[in-house]
Amino acid sequence: WPRTTGRADGAITIAGVDVRDLASEYGTPLYVVDEDDFRSRCRDYRAAFANDDVYYAGKAFLCKEVARWVDQEGLGLDVCSGGELAVALSVGFPPERIALHGNNKSYAELERALRAGVGHIVVDSFDEIARVGYLADQLGVRPKIQIRVTTGVEAHTHEFIATAHDDQKFGLSLGSGAAAEAVRRVLAMPQLELVGLHSHIGSQIFDTAGFEVAARRLALLLTQIKEEHDVFLPELDLGGGYGIAYVEGDDPPDIKVIADSLREIVSRVCENAGIPVPRLTVEPGRAISGPGGVTIYEVGTVKDVEGLRTYVSIDGGMSDNMRTALYGADYTCVLASRNSDALPALSRVVGKHCESGDIVVRDVWLPRDLAAGDLLAVPATGAYCRSLAHNYNYLPRPAVVAVRDGVSRVIVQRETEDDLLRGQA
Ligand code: LLP
Repeated sequence: WPRTTGRADGAITIAGVDVRDLASEYGTPLYVVDEDDFRSRCRDYRAAFANDDVYYAGKAFLCKEVARWVDQEGLGLDVCSGGELAVALSVGFPPERIALHGNNKSYAELERALRAGVGHIVVDSFDEIARVGYLADQLGVRPKIQIRVTTGVEAHTHEFIATAHDDQKFGLSLGSGAAAEAVRRVLAMPQLELVGLHSHIGSQIFDTAGFEVAARRLALLLTQIKEEHDVFLPELDLGGGYGIAYVEGDDPPDIKVIADSLREIVSRVCENAGIPVPRLTVEPGRAISGPGGVTIYEVGTVKDVEGLRTYVSIDGGMSDNMRTALYGADYTCVLASRNSDALPALSRVVGKHCESGDIVVRDVWLPRDLAAGDLLAVPATGAYCRSLAHNYNYLPRPAVVAVRDGVSRVIVQRETEDDLLRGQA
């Protein structure tokens, strides 16, 4: 729960705003973002990585207002498409604090980033090195380049969001020598300025050993580059992936502890090799926007399946939260609009889409007197929910409302039917 959440009059308030007021003013489903929670997590990361760089990974949740918050809090922004770049540029986000990611950036995306003067581009393949080199020549610019290295670390997370083993699409493999070859190629292109190495091992990770192993391997590669080419790369980007709590009992890692340990590992390797210690970069997405987001739904139908469980259907579903259907993610929820003394029933919170896998909360105990019109609140939905939202079954995507000090305001409007029909012949 966002730390400002409390209960008043049997209903949940978020940053001093009663969820019943939010539902009646803006409708449901509704994404609610606790602005102070988001901002304070930005500050926690900046404090933990005080001498280093923190980039917010926009893929977790990005809109114009969020880009402004990230800018005001002094973080950089990781974008991985022309669209994310457009959001950042539209609010005047300083281009030198933008990093461009992606395993298949188009010429158009690369050109736009180069013209805007983004801080660095993380190259992900030999094809891309050639593309950026060609465009840099054409445009007469000399972009800063990081090389994304696949470190071979097995991240303990869902298969779809683990990214450092060799058999997946991202990066250039350390083990096969592709990463070293990429270094050679970039160094051979005078129009590119190689500034660092990058690694992202996966997402929603609790076991910090993976980050440490990846950091050590990248630092060792840095020392080898110094030896082989007599070039010191000043930046080591360790990606994102720091897990957050979704349900009771989840115990996410302490970012301060991780920061100290990563810095110590990298320093030790570099000092042993007699080279300077590079600047570290981290790219948290979920850990910044996730915990401060709550989704509010209205209950529609309640169905007891005798001897099994109660199915509680809400007015959204897999179109506003794909994560349960896609990764088997765990969520919880509570009755948010009133108190209830009724006994609990084992319940499954499901959406209104035409699939039985359309589940938001797989197992949760909810009061037996739950009925149409009640509001449910699902916490920890600030990351990868709005950003993965879609229009399956022609459901409009919900609005996003920011709350702070008892005041709410729309930062992304709810889609309308006109939005859904726009552009059709
Ligand atoms: N940096 C890079 C290069 C990334 O690919 C990602 C996430 C991040 C940073 C941020 O990772 P975070 O700190 O948010 O874990 N849709 C999935 C997560 C996909 C993550 C993709 N890359 C989910 O809902 O769990």
